[in-house]
Amino acid sequence: MKKTKHFMNCIKHIWALRQKHNEMKLHQFFWSYAKRMCEYQQEYCEIKEDYFIRSYTRHIEDLRQKHDEDTAMALFVGGSFEAVGLLEYFILLQNGLDREHTVIDVGCGSGRLAFQLKEYLEGSYIGIDVVPEVLQYTQKRCNRSDWKFYKAPGLTIPEPDNSADFICFFSVFTHLLYEETFKYLEDASRVVKPNGKIIFSFLEFLLPAHWHVFKTYIADARPDKVLFQFISRDAILAWADHLGLSVVDIFDGDKPHIKLNQMVRWDNGSEMIDKGNLGQSVCILTKP
Ligand SMILES: C[S@@+](CC[C@H](N)C(=O)[O-])C[C@H]1O[C@@H](n2cnc3c(N)ncnc32)[C@H](O)[C@@H]1O
Repeated sequence: MKKTKHFMNCIKHIWALRQKHNEMKLHQFFWSYAKRMCEYQQEYCEIKEDYFIRSYTRHIEDLRQKHDEDTAMALFVGGSFEAVGLLEYFILLQNGLDREHTVIDVGCGSGRLAFQLKEYLEGSYIGIDVVPEVLQYTQKRCNRSDWKFYKAPGLTIPEPDNSADFICFFSVFTHLLYEETFKYLEDASRVVKPNGKIIFSFLEFLLPAHWHVFKTYIADARPDKVLFQFISRDAILAWADHLGLSVVDIFDGDKPHIKLNQMVRWDNGSEMIDKGNLGQSVCILTKP
C-alpha cells in the first residue's frame, strides 16, 4: 500500500518534471529514486531479519526455562521429534534419496530430519538455520564431523550452483512472508542440481484440517509471536512457473501419502503403520 502510493507520487512527479525541466534533471531524479528504493529494500530486510530472530530467540529462551534441553529443543520445532523426523526422512527416500546424495536442510531446527539421516547418509548434509542455539544442539546430537552446520543469512543458501540433490524446507515457509519464500525458492533453484528435488511443507486454507492453526494464531495477542503463513496452491504454481521449476507432486497434509519403513508414533500416542502424513501439506519441485 505504502509502496503503491509512493510509486503513484513518483509518476506524478515525473510528469510535472517533464513539463518543466530538461533531460539532465530527469536523470538526477531517477538516480535519487533508485537510491531511495534500494535503501527501502535494505531497511525492510534488516527489520524483518531482526523481527524473526527476536521472536525465535524469545521462544527458545521460554522453552529452556520450563523444560530440560531435549524437550525444549523438540518443542521448539513443534514436538514429536522422532515421528516427524521419520516422516521427513521417508519423504526423501520416496523421492529417490540415495546414500551418496547431498542434502541441504534449510531451517533444520533441532535436527528432526538430521537425526534420522545420520546413520543412512554417506554424502554431504548441510543444515542451516537462523537460530544458533538449535544449530549447536543438532550438531552435537548428530555427531557427524563431516556434516556442515551454519547460521542462515536469512533468505539465501550460500552454496554453489547445481550442488544439491535435495533441498528441504520442512515447516519453514509456514513462518515466512510470500516474498521471502519466493526469494528462498529462487536461490534453491540455483543451488539444486538438474533433476534434483526441492521439498517443502506448507499450511493451506484448502484443507479444513489446517484451520485450527490459523484460529490459534489469530487468537494469540503477543506482539512477538512467531509468524504463521498459509500458502495457496496457485501461488506455488506461479512461483514454480516463474522460476523454471516443475511441480512433481503436491500432497494433502491430512491424507496418508508417505510410505513407511517402520511404525511412526506421535507424542500424543497415535500411530501410523503403512502410510503416514505430516499434517502439513507437502510440495515436491524439480529443476528440469
Ligand atoms: C517449525 S521449525 C522446523 C524445523 C525443521 N525443519 C523440522 O522439520 O524439524 C522452523 C525452523 O525454521 C527456522 N527458520 C525460520 N526462519 C528461517 C529462515 N529465514 N532461514 C532459515 N531458517 C529459518 C527456525 O529457526 C526453526 O528452526
